[in-house]
Amino acid sequence: MSDILTFNSGPKKILSRDETIEDLNSEILSLRPEKFSDYIGQTETVETLKIAIEAAKYRNEPIEHVLLFGPPGLGKTTLAYILAREMGGELKITSGPTLEKGGDLIGILTNLKDGDILFIDEIHRLPKSVEEFLYPAMEDFAVDFVFDKGMHARSHRYQLKRFILVGATTRAGLLSSPLRDRFGIFRSLDFYTDEELVTITKRSANLLDVKTDDSAAFELARRSRGTPRIVNRLLKRSRDYAQVKADGVLTKETVEAALLLEGVDQMGLTNMDRHYLKTIINYYKGGPVGIDAIAATLQEENDTLVDVVEPYLLKKGLVTRTSSGRKATDKAYSHLKIIL
Ligand SMILES: Nc1ncnc2c1ncn2[C@@H]1O[C@H](COP(=O)(O)OP(=O)(O)O)[C@@H](O)[C@H]1O
Ligand SMILES: [Mg+2]
Repeated sequence: MSDILTFNSGPKKILSRDETIEDLNSEILSLRPEKFSDYIGQTETVETLKIAIEAAKYRNEPIEHVLLFGPPGLGKTTLAYILAREMGGELKITSGPTLEKGGDLIGILTNLKDGDILFIDEIHRLPKSVEEFLYPAMEDFAVDFVFDKGMHARSHRYQLKRFILVGATTRAGLLSSPLRDRFGIFRSLDFYTDEELVTITKRSANLLDVKTDDSAAFELARRSRGTPRIVNRLLKRSRDYAQVKADGVLTKETVEAALLLEGVDQMGLTNMDRHYLKTIINYYKGGPVGIDAIAATLQEENDTLVDVVEPYLLKKGLVTRTSSGRKATDKAYSHLKIIL
């Protein structure tokens, strides 16, 4: 029960693996959109949710449970905040790995009120024993307590309030099917277009009170791996750079100079992205090579590569995934200027 955060209530937030302290600060500065009208892109997902909310309000019921899937930084947590706001419920945030025992979850569930939103981040990392308590909670708004063991075991059903579960995952494939099937709404978030990221950059620049010209906004958008969290972070780094080295105004040149320091290249790839590609190319002759071997060479966690690094490289066609492993494409060689 200790790892739970109530909407807007102080410091007890747990960081998920892809978040940094800076992201938390950016929430405090409220770059995070609070309404659908400020939430850029993901139009089909937003439309689905808006319709569900309107229909549910009409019937005076909570909306169905929502599962959001997509790489880090694309706006899953933000959608949970917006949903809570739109539904007028309180948001409780927890995450799969912090719920170690069934009792942790029961404590949370029994405290929910009608229309509250329970957000479980990284829901694919929920222990199996905890997951089983979720089934009746999601389906019948009930939890089953079991007293005693063996022959004398008795169970007692406790009725819960009608809450809405919002699950977020970077790996829909790791969710068990009984869990997946209990979500009424399942949406995957996609990388953002450059145009959408330009809009996000301008909005954030405005909130941070940084003067940014169009070419700077476009350069930031183009180099942010299709990800709002990254565009916001790079905007701040560029702002710092402009304040110290230029007259505070963001131009294409200041952005380029700031991103060079950050190790972000022309395509928006980071040091980590390039190390990953170079490992495949230099150590494994371009592949195919298994993810475990790449992770071992890089001394990185397998999950980080699969969840954080690979999705964008796959999207950009720099790497392919075959049954025998990962392969670097010609595009990767030419981006890294390695002669075949
Ligand atoms: N659609 C969006 N429009 C504007 N900003 C966004 C959008 N999605 C995400 N952001 C920004 O990116 C940050 C990270 O989003 P978040 O919801 O925490 O991602 P996730 O939970 O998917 O990792 C947010 O704090 C917000 O500032
Ligand atoms: Mg999140």
